[in-house]
Amino acid sequence: MAEPDESVKIRERLLRFERESRYLRRDSDERKVLEEVFDRSTMLAVEELIARKDLSELRGVVRAGKEARVYLGEDRAAGPVAVKIYLTSASDFRKRMGYIAGDRRFGKLPAGSRETVYLWTRKEFKNLQLAQGAGIRVPAPLAFLKNILVMEYVGTPPAPAPTFSESEVGDEEYAWTFKTLDALWTRAGLVHADFSEFNIFRTESGPVLFDMGSAVLSSHPQAQEFLRRDISNMVRFFRKRGVGGNDADEWMRVILR
Ligand SMILES: Nc1ncnc2c1ncn2[C@@H]1O[C@H](COP(=O)(O)OP(=O)(O)OP(=O)(O)O)[C@@H](O)[C@H]1O
Ligand SMILES: [Mg+2]
Repeated sequence: MAEPDESVKIRERLLRFERESRYLRRDSDERKVLEEVFDRSTMLAVEELIARKDLSELRGVVRAGKEARVYLGEDRAAGPVAVKIYLTSASDFRKRMGYIAGDRRFGKLPAGSRETVYLWTRKEFKNLQLAQGAGIRVPAPLAFLKNILVMEYVGTPPAPAPTFSESEVGDEEYAWTFKTLDALWTRAGLVHADFSEFNIFRTESGPVLFDMGSAVLSSHPQAQEFLRRDISNMVRFFRKRGVGGNDADEWMRVILR
């Protein structure tokens, strides 16, 4: 019998990680994941990233969400990296359109769901680069290919760093949050558009903002609307935690000054 090719082996390993982490509860889950996440083209892309030495190993699953799965991987120096694989299934690519159309970095809109997901992946990579260039602490973007993004691992493997939602937060985190919303807008020319306590890691060396796929340029027609929503989310979160300050209108004025 022929030796299974690399991409089949990669798929087998990823599936094993998912079983071990009990993300797959039913047979139907397993089938769905096989079809939607570990499709042949995704596995070939993983193989290609390994061939290019942007990745050398996959070690396990960190988090399985509806839209993306994040794996712990290793770079060629055996350092940990986070490998985010976006699902290519059509589920909510329509929702993503509003965060692509209107961003002048991306000309013609993609025709299908697969192309949309590839563009989304590239967009997250570019957004991370822009934010990093503006001095905002994000996971360093390392490589991307098709629906796969490789970035700095934040946390102590295999555990990711806790997010604000899982941590105690106080005045320091409050100050960081609004300084970062301001720096994104004024220095990076970006709005995150999904800024929330679930998308900020808390680490010993300070907070790290992540999940930047939805971020758009500040020239996007809805940029101010997204900014306003990001600000409101965070004002609400800190109020619930008993940390207060300006209201959303005041922060809008400060940032748009
Ligand atoms: N760079 C990273 N280092 C370590 N863990 C990460 C990294 N990026 C993401 N993760 C883990 O994966 C989870 C989901 O990542 P992310 O928010 O980027 O994806 P998502 O598509 O929004 O998923 P969800 O809908 O579950 O939030 C994070 O909460 C974190 O546990
Ligand atoms: Mg998220």
